[in-house]
Amino acid sequence: MPEPGGVAPSILAADFARLGEQVGTVLAAGARTIHVDIMDGHFVPPLSMGPNVVSALADQIHDAGGYVDVHLMIERPERQIEAFAKAGADGITLHFEATPHANYALNAVRDAGCRAGLALNPGTPATVVGELVEDVDLVLCMTVNPGWGGQAFLPGSPDKVRRLRELVGGRPAIEVDGGVDASTVGVCAAAGATVFVAGSAVFGTEDPGQAYRSIAEAAHS
Ligand code: DX5
Ligand code: ZN
Repeated sequence: MPEPGGVAPSILAADFARLGEQVGTVLAAGARTIHVDIMDGHFVPPLSMGPNVVSALADQIHDAGGYVDVHLMIERPERQIEAFAKAGADGITLHFEATPHANYALNAVRDAGCRAGLALNPGTPATVVGELVEDVDLVLCMTVNPGWGGQAFLPGSPDKVRRLRELVGGRPAIEVDGGVDASTVGVCAAAGATVFVAGSAVFGTEDPGQAYRSIAEAAHS
């Protein structure tokens, strides 16, 4: 089973008219985690995409040995887990703020055969993860407020990642999401993050393959 790791291009910033080609470009450049942002117009104001987009891309990503990383920015995510698991998600990340039943929802993700991720908004304290450490395979630390690509990285984020790493220990992946580029990825890696979502810094450039490689290099320099 593929594992999440490294720089994860977010297709939210891709050209939807040639999505398969754009995903192919970053897979060829070495990306193995592809991030898919699902928005419902309630938990966050915009609408983005649904399970049909996941199923359209899943074979291409799996054939390359990649990981389909679904980030649900939707209310009551427990109602959609089955649909995204069937569509080909390897990991499903839901927001702590989006359900009164985080423990139930995370375990439903595992029961559906996927890795369970818990996302925290910038205003949610790292300590909420303490109750859920055994139930998570990944913690997603939002480094902007969710809903839009292209926002500035919140400067308090690396300290929060450090606190999360102390709380969860070495096992779960820690993912940072929002405003990640070659100038912010290094400090996230040093703080203990292992997955680095980058949308506009990859697909908002002329050469997404090269942009992916530059961010991946900067993560470890
Ligand atoms: C924001 C999404 C992000 C978004 C990141 O709500 O969760 O995954 O695509 O975009 P950038 O990298 O442009 O900040
Ligand atoms: Zn995301």
